[in-house]
Formats: sequence, structure tokens, C-alpha cells
Amino acid sequence: MYHVFMFEELEKIKSECLNCQRCPLSATRTKVVFSGGVPNNKIVLIGEAPGFNEDMTGEPFVGRAGQLLDKILESVGFSRKENIYICNTIKCRPPNNRDPLPEEKLACRNYLDKQLSVLRPKIILLCGKVALTSFMDTKEGISKLRGRWFDGPFGAKMMPIFHPSYLLRNQSKAVGSPKWLMWQDMKEIRRTYDALEKASQ
Ligand code: URA
Repeated sequence: MYHVFMFEELEKIKSECLNCQRCPLSATRTKVVFSGGVPNNKIVLIGEAPGFNEDMTGEPFVGRAGQLLDKILESVGFSRKENIYICNTIKCRPPNNRDPLPEEKLACRNYLDKQLSVLRPKIILLCGKVALTSFMDTKEGISKLRGRWFDGPFGAKMMPIFHPSYLLRNQSKAVGSPKWLMWQDMKEIRRTYDALEKASQ
């Protein structure tokens, strides 16, 4: 019952978002990228913004970074088919993949807030700098904050993690490397997820 309600509420937000003209990105986008994965109240990953492939397909994280993200999630038994909801900080592609502008983030924020208020996830993963700075007022970078739990909206446990694009540029798997740190973070996220699951049974 709860899931039917969740799905219907998300569909309402989505249809509003698909027609959005709140910022100039609406004029240059091909498709609005609202979300991917499965709606659930457990785990939501928030990325940055659609890139070329996402703009063409309307699905988040389907390019090279997305393929790496899927592998990372699968390494600890998460998958967008089963247990993770994926969305972005902004829903339309910025031209040439530039960073979203503050006014674009502001115009789009309402959709993200509504998504979270319907889902009320127990875990929120802030994937990369843009998501991090949208939820945390800090001058510290992702390298300092990744891997730590913070209090998120609606009582969620919230963790900043590296963006897969950054990992594509840093291929080493040596102890202490970004890829190795990501692996440690994913194991911690899986442990916490399992503990929350157990506690809710
Ligand atoms: N990078 C993101 O942050 N989101 C996407 O959907 C694709 C690439």
C-alpha cells in the first residue's frame, strides 16, 4: 500500500518536472532526467546532473561514469533493479557538461526536495561535489568528508562519496587511493544498510 502511494506521488512530481521551464536549461535539454532505479525508503543516491547520454535517454548514470557506478554498487550487492533509487541534483543537462549554476540548482531544488519527502530514505548518498554542497554548508571538499555519516533530511543518515567520474580519472586501486577509499565506503554503507534492515524487521 505504502509503495503504491509512493509511486503515485512520485509520478505526480515527475509529470510536473517533465514540463518544467523554471530555468534556461529547459530550452537546451533533450530529455528531463527525473530518476532511475526503484523507489524505496531505504537508499537514495544523488548525483550531479545529466550528461550527454542521460540527456538522450532520460535515464540517470548511463554513460561511462554510470557503468562504473553500477559495478561499484553491485560489488556490495546493490542494484538499481532491486534496491536503490538514483536521481540528480539538477534534472536537465547543462551545456557542455559545465557545473550547474547556483540559480539552476535553486530552480530545480524543489523537485529533489519533493522526491526525498515522498521517499523518506534511511540512507542518502551524496555522490560528488555538487550534491555535497547542495546539502552541506561547508568549505571542506569531498576528499575530507567522504566516508563519514552526517544527519540528512527526514532523519536520514547521509554520506558524501566520490563521484564515479573522479574514479575514472584515478584508476589506481592501491591502498589509500580514491578507488580503494570508495570500496571502504561502500562496505560501510552496506553494513549500515543491513543493520537498518535488521532493526526494522
Ligand atoms: N553524472 C551524474 O552526476 N549524473 C548522471 O546522471 C550522469 C553523470
